[in-house]
Amino acid sequence: MSSLQADRLFKVFGRRAGEAVKQLRDGADRDALRENGTTAAVIDASFTVEKGEIFVVMGLSGSGKSTLLRMLNGLLEPTDGRVLFDGQDLTSLSPRDLRRVRSHRISMVFQHFALFPHRSVLENAAYGLEVQGVEREERLERAAEALELAGLKGWEKSWPDELSGGMQQRVGLARALATDADLLLMDESFSALDPLIRRDMQDQLLELQQRLRKTIIFITHDLNEAMRLGDRIAVMRDGRIVQIGTAEQILVDPANDYVASFVQDVDRSRVLTAESIMEEPRVMLDPGATVGSAVHTLRTQHASGGFVVERGRKLVGSVTEDAVAAGAHTAQATVRDLMDGDPVTVSAGTPLSELFTPSCASGLPVAVTDDDRRLVGVIPRVALLAALGDEPKTVVSLDRHRETRRPAAPQDAVREEVAGA
Ligand SMILES: Nc1ncnc2c1ncn2[C@@H]1O[C@H](COP(=O)(O)OP(=O)(O)OP(=O)(O)O)[C@@H](O)[C@H]1O
Ligand SMILES: [Mg+2]
Repeated sequence: MSSLQADRLFKVFGRRAGEAVKQLRDGADRDALRENGTTAAVIDASFTVEKGEIFVVMGLSGSGKSTLLRMLNGLLEPTDGRVLFDGQDLTSLSPRDLRRVRSHRISMVFQHFALFPHRSVLENAAYGLEVQGVEREERLERAAEALELAGLKGWEKSWPDELSGGMQQRVGLARALATDADLLLMDESFSALDPLIRRDMQDQLLELQQRLRKTIIFITHDLNEAMRLGDRIAVMRDGRIVQIGTAEQILVDPANDYVASFVQDVDRSRVLTAESIMEEPRVMLDPGATVGSAVHTLRTQHASGGFVVERGRKLVGSVTEDAVAAGAHTAQATVRDLMDGDPVTVSAGTPLSELFTPSCASGLPVAVTDDDRRLVGVIPRVALLAALGDEPKTVVSLDRHRETRRPAAPQDAVREEVAGA
């Protein structure tokens, strides 16, 4: 597994690129340069992608995502800056060494699944290994394993045109997995798929990632996809990265108005988690406390019930006002005697969308507990409603901004995808 670092990367197309970098460093923007026929595709991009992380780059069409990705795998030479792969500067490698790194350690999956029509699914999946010079028997064996991982067992002998679009894209994924590369670069890999199939593929990628722990850079212009997949997300605008953060950070604390307008149409209930809205529990009762003291606590807190915790905030149960009132005349009773049922608990990582049912199931707030059943917070129903009420005012459709592009010829794309042409 490997980490990847972009260090002040610039890519400028057109004349006098070096001069343009200087101007950009001094704060010039893209439009100013465009007047004299120079395109600043990527401007001063820096970030580190950790081993085993899914790092999503998102932005509108033309914001520089693909150009950035191509510099990361050495397909495009940066105008300025460095790409460090496991600490090794890709920009300083000889063409031969660079090709080697590209074919053995980096895999790419594009939007337009570029399969060879006259090769079987198995042979297509094995293509990356063929480029590596792996001998036939071994590469077919490894390709078969990768197809199984990608959910295509049984389809090895089929032809690409016998597969649905989603399945063809799985072959592309299998081809990337077969090479055992530790860095996976995915450029709009799922964008051409129907929404449901796309979701399937996202799930599959997340599941694979649980097992394989690759370092993945995933490009998309779809914010919901970004938020679902990304451990962290970089938002690009006009060649610059304007924010890097987790989905929650970007949603809760957008770096500027641009990012804020971008995230307005996100389904918050799927991105935000219990942790981001939980509150400090107001009422915590000791199981050994007397009923009298419980009554006092509930009254002073104006609470209709509370959680019962042992030392170290270990949750043992809950009591309601009614139960406490009913026990009030039993002189010897303690809080423990009055506990009624198991409180509803969730973990800190539970998405808000899964909190509705628990929240309605109980008169008390939902208890948020850790692995040791310690009470780390509570979510009153009003807090849940308030978080979701923070709704979009205007909806930005990213697709509207996309320009149509002619897809690259399939054969060229295969070569680029596999070996970096
Ligand atoms: N080879 C090139 N020569 C000149 N300009 C280029 C070249 N490649 C890209 N550009 C320009 O650089 C900018 C960024 O393009 P890029 O393809 O990286 O955007 P993108 O974010 O991937 O867009 P999309 O979502 O449409 O794929 C665009 O203005 C594009 O026209
Ligand atoms: Mg692109």
